[in-house]
Amino acid sequence: MAVVAGALLAAGTAVPAGGDPAPAASAMDTIVPAPESVTPDPAANFELSEQTAILAPGEAAGVGEYLAGVLRPSTGFPVPVNPALPGTGDIALALDGDPGLGPEGYRLQVADDAVQVHATSPDGLFNAVQTLRQLLPAGIESATAQPGPWTMPGGEITDKPRFGHRSAQLDPARHFFTVDMVKRYIDQIAKYKINKLHLHLTDDQGWRLQINSWPRLTEFGAQTEVGGTPGGFYTQQDYSEIVDYAASRHMTVIPEIDMPGHTNAALSSYAELNCDGVAPPPYTGIDVGFSSLCVNKDITYTFVEDVIREVAALTPGPYLHIGGDEAHSTTDEDYVAFMSKVLPLVEKYGKKPLGWHEYGKAAPQGDAALQFWGTTNGDPILNEGIARGNKVLASPANKSYMDMKYDENTPLGLQWAGFIEVADAYGWDPADHLQVPEESVLGVEAPMFSETLETSQHIEFMAFPRLPAIAELGWSPKNTHDWESFKTRLANQGPRWQAAGQDFYRSPQIPWTR
Ligand code: ACM
Repeated sequence: MAVVAGALLAAGTAVPAGGDPAPAASAMDTIVPAPESVTPDPAANFELSEQTAILAPGEAAGVGEYLAGVLRPSTGFPVPVNPALPGTGDIALALDGDPGLGPEGYRLQVADDAVQVHATSPDGLFNAVQTLRQLLPAGIESATAQPGPWTMPGGEITDKPRFGHRSAQLDPARHFFTVDMVKRYIDQIAKYKINKLHLHLTDDQGWRLQINSWPRLTEFGAQTEVGGTPGGFYTQQDYSEIVDYAASRHMTVIPEIDMPGHTNAALSSYAELNCDGVAPPPYTGIDVGFSSLCVNKDITYTFVEDVIREVAALTPGPYLHIGGDEAHSTTDEDYVAFMSKVLPLVEKYGKKPLGWHEYGKAAPQGDAALQFWGTTNGDPILNEGIARGNKVLASPANKSYMDMKYDENTPLGLQWAGFIEVADAYGWDPADHLQVPEESVLGVEAPMFSETLETSQHIEFMAFPRLPAIAELGWSPKNTHDWESFKTRLANQGPRWQAAGQDFYRSPQIPWTR
């Protein structure tokens, strides 16, 4: 791919990357999510070579190794990190960033003789590396050696996120996904600066995380999935492997244990959790709202506390998601009584509660967060929560649900929240859409429930190209929001996904280049 740096932009002129209506002329103008500011310098292109090394001293070393791991397979270059011989560092990662960049921001300078990255934390360096790889030709994403040249356009990018919480969700409960499938998705979404992975670990169709104190949850409750095919589960070791892998991609796992509804797998595993003491059979359909833990039994809270204790101990991140959605077979009174006993347990084990917005009915206090999944423009329950100090995570089902069909012809997915084409996924603002103050928005999420999704190819087809739209809403400054710019920049991602061997939906809304 020929790179003509900044041909349509005057050198040295800072422009918001998303605000330029002209066709993207330089890789500097094609970054997704759009950076805060981009200043191309066509006279300062940099070329990777056999001699290129990475200098990443101290705590920058981990990101340096990660970057080398991105560059080596496709370039075939050795790309040493912190080589013994001084003066060979062409890409320098340094933790000397201006405090104004914040905890995740970075400054990336490409000059003809060196690339310099400055940040205040390894998170910021990691975000810079995601930008840096988009400055290289698409072939950089290949797992096998490709012909060069490996030219990066000269100039400078200064960048930091609008929201600190940018998440994607996977649902291994409806169809089980292996550890390797989860890692594959982590790598794909990290490229768009997603920094949280929400795992929907339990539902009617399967309990997917081993709980040592209640072993039948997985010995029995994980054996099937939607459609009746064999299910599966993560041992605690598997789960920790996912948590560690996510951390190596600067991503925090948020485990979800959905309750009191969406619990048939638990109820079928342990008869004593049912009000009538009778365990229902495993469920392999896709209805919702029929199951509930028994709100009036003491053993329910022994069970919930054991689960929360074990999950909290395995989870380094601050949030534990307690579901709370679609509890249609629980009365409001019982629901509030249940949540009022569960919320203190989350705090007791050192976590902050996160839940689907209905759990606002139980008036969670302070640092709890409400995840909005409705199809309306906000909900009074959010404003009530904000008045108590809660934050709001924006994942409106008719905008951000990656499991909704693109249109009536999409072979996968559901349509209860409507069709979501790329322009729909991009065409909203988190604070405005929910009618809440910007400072009450924790961030955005792209959920993906998997009633119809079984393989990595299915996940990729539904997430791409919509997930980058949600990622941009979470990362990019509001003043860069521009559909014409976005769709052109998004088109440039297609060859990258092809090079990476990743599927995506060729939306007719996007001017794909090949
Ligand atoms: C949900 O989609 N039931 C959160």
